[in-house]
Amino acid sequence: MKYKYSFILGHSAEISLSEIFQVLNLSHIKYSVIEFNNSFLIIDTNSELDINFLMRRLGGIIKIGIIYGEFRNNQIDKIQNFLFDFLIKNANHKKLKIGFSYYNLSNSFFSEFSRNSFALKKRLRQEKIQSRIITSKKQDLSAVIVNKEKLISDGFDFQILAFGENIFIAKTLCVQDYEKFSIIDYNRPKIDAVSGMMPPKLAQIMLNLSGKNDIVYDPFCGSGTILLMAGELNYKKIIASDILSRAVSNSIENLKWYENKFDKKLDYNVFEADVLNLPVEIFYEKIDCIVSEGYLGKAMKGNESLDFIKKQIKELEKLYLKSFENFLKIKSLKNVVISMPVFIYNKQRFYLEILDKIQELGFKQENLLDEKYLNERATLIYKREDQKVYREIVKFVK
Ligand SMILES: C[S@@+](CC[C@H](N)C(=O)[O-])C[C@H]1O[C@@H](n2cnc3c(N)ncnc32)[C@H](O)[C@@H]1O
Repeated sequence: MKYKYSFILGHSAEISLSEIFQVLNLSHIKYSVIEFNNSFLIIDTNSELDINFLMRRLGGIIKIGIIYGEFRNNQIDKIQNFLFDFLIKNANHKKLKIGFSYYNLSNSFFSEFSRNSFALKKRLRQEKIQSRIITSKKQDLSAVIVNKEKLISDGFDFQILAFGENIFIAKTLCVQDYEKFSIIDYNRPKIDAVSGMMPPKLAQIMLNLSGKNDIVYDPFCGSGTILLMAGELNYKKIIASDILSRAVSNSIENLKWYENKFDKKLDYNVFEADVLNLPVEIFYEKIDCIVSEGYLGKAMKGNESLDFIKKQIKELEKLYLKSFENFLKIKSLKNVVISMPVFIYNKQRFYLEILDKIQELGFKQENLLDEKYLNERATLIYKREDQKVYREIVKFVK
C-alpha cells in the first residue's frame, strides 16, 4: 500500500525542504517526491511514517498531513462530494468542527472554494450533522488555531493543496510544537538582544542539516540557542565557546534552566575563547560537527551608509576566514554548518565573499538542495522581509 503525505513548509521554504530531505534520508525512509513548491511538499512512501517522531525532529515544518484525494481544479463539485462522503463516514461527533487550510490557491479558486464549504455545511445539516467551519483571516489555519480548536482530536483540518491544475486534499495529522519553541525562545532566563539571538527553529534546522552526529561545537555560542536545540535533538555532547564571558555564563545558565525545565541531563562544556585563538586542546577533542551562527558585526540601526556596511563586511570576512583556518585544525571534524550575515541596503543583498576562499582552505561546500533550486551562490537564505540582516546558511565538509 502507498501512503501520500503533505508537509507544510515554514516561511523560508527552501531551508525547510532541505531539512526534511536530510531528515528523511537520515531516518532511512524510502520516499519519492510527488510535488513541491514554496508552500508544501508531497511525497509517497511504501510504509506508514512515524509522523510524531518526524514532527519532533523537524524545525522547519508546520503541519504534516495525509493525502486522501486528488482532483483537478475544475472539479469543485466532485471535491465537495468527496468531503461530504468523507465526513459522513468519519464523523463521530454530532457537532463537527471543520477547518480548511488553503495552500497555493489562486484567489478566484479560493473564493469559490470558501463559498462551497458553506454549501457543505448545509448538506451536512440535512443529514442531521451540525458543523462549525473554522476560519481565520489568512488562507490557512495556523498550528495555533488547529491546536486550540482541537481540530486533530475532535475535528478536521483539511489541507487544500494546489499544484498547477491539480488539487490534493489532505487531513492534518499533527502540527509543530510551537509552544516548546516559544518556551525555549522567550522563557529561558538569559537573552541577549545586543549580540542577536537566533530563532530556536533555525538552530534545530541547522543541526539537522549537519547530519547524524553525536558531538557538536558552537564557537560563537552567544546565549546558547544552538546548544539548547542540540539538547532537544539528544546530542551526546555539546561543546561551546564565545569571546564574551557574559555569553559563556548566559549559555550555562540557559542550559541549566533547560535541564530543569525538561527534566533532561546534558553533557556540555562551555568556555571563554576567541575563535581566532582557540586553545590547542580543542583541536584534539572528539568533535563531529560545528553548527554555529557567526558574529553578525556591530548592531545595526538601519540608517547605516553603504560604506559602513562594506567596511563591516571586510572585517567579518577576515574573522570568518581565520575561523575556518582554525576549524580545519580540529582533527575529527566532519562538517561545518554556519550562518553568515547578509546585509541589506536599498533592497540589495551584500554577502561575505569568502565561499571560494573557504574551499581553497580545504573545505568543500555541499549543496543543501538539488542545484536547480539553489541561488547562484548555492546557499540557502533565512529571512524575514523587514530584517536589515538576513542569514546565509552554508554547509562545508572537510
Ligand atoms: C550572533 S551571536 C550568536 C547568537 C547565538 N546563536 C544565540 O542564539 O544566542 C554571535 C556571537 O559571536 C561572538 N563573537 C564575536 N566575535 C567573536 C570571536 N572573535 N570569537 C568568539 N566569539 C565571538 C559574540 O560575542 C556573539 O555572542
